Amino acid sequence: MLDKVIKVTTTKNPRDNQLIKIKEIQEKLGLSYVERKNYSIADLIEKYKCDYLFVIKRDKLVLTDINTELFWHPNMAFLKIKAIQKGESDPIIRAMDLQKGDSVLDCTLGFAADSLVVSSYLGDEGTIVGTEVNKYIAYLTAEGLDNYNTDGLEIKSAMQRIKVINADYNNYLKSLEDNSFDIVYFDPMFKVPNKKSEFMNSLRPFAEHSYLSLESVNEALRVARKRVVAKDRMFSKELESLGFTEFYGGGARGSTKYGAIIKTI
Ligand SMILES: C[S@@+](CC[C@H](N)C(=O)[O-])C[C@H]1O[C@@H](n2cnc3c(N)ncnc32)[C@H](O)[C@@H]1O
Repeated sequence: MLDKVIKVTTTKNPRDNQLIKIKEIQEKLGLSYVERKNYSIADLIEKYKCDYLFVIKRDKLVLTDINTELFWHPNMAFLKIKAIQKGESDPIIRAMDLQKGDSVLDCTLGFAADSLVVSSYLGDEGTIVGTEVNKYIAYLTAEGLDNYNTDGLEIKSAMQRIKVINADYNNYLKSLEDNSFDIVYFDPMFKVPNKKSEFMNSLRPFAEHSYLSLESVNEALRVARKRVVAKDRMFSKELESLGFTEFYGGGARGSTKYGAIIKTI
């Protein structure tokens, strides 16, 4: 991500709980605070010459410029979880050969939609850890998973079981012992972006775009006890060239696939 000028503010007439959040965001994200007063977002951006504002709203945190808004939401995860609970098969579960209680490292957490599906399937005894290199995405995701309002108790606990780490997976993998997770998962930004995905379009300006390397796949193979799994577009051959051998297709409209390298002992 190129350096962007970002400042934190609130809505007009903020409540106490919004004001309390300012200090935490200043400290955790290193952003300076600008008072909203009666300014519009556009006026504030102009006045303080920023690219984006991190706005503490009453019910959510939003990273916004004049045209776009980035805020945490579960994307398709809730729908997928419900379908799996009804007995439908999902390719990510098949690609991981996921067993209740497994431990999973999601190297490219993003908004944790994939992790949420995995966490729900794993249940209480499973472990799911996600690394996200961009501090804004990591923070929005951690806050969203903690605070998003849902009546579904099972989904709520699946959200709370995901451990969010703001780190580069290249460094994080190197810090781990051999065989420390059952499955290591990658969903890197696609080399050929799917511009029709509104979800990815909102994440794109902040996401790290570098693709998976052979070195990171080998590190993941050292860390994984059972298998390494990665997502890519259906037509792409990138995963084959990185040594992925088993493929599981393919998303609601068949546009994505999951590749796996199964570890043999
Ligand atoms: C395609 S998105 C992942 C979406 C995610 N699977 C979901 O369901 O929400 C890829 C994410 O991986 C992050 N990323 C890319 N390279 C990374 C790295 N080296 N370490 C950690 N995160 C990385 C990007 O910033 C981006 O947020």
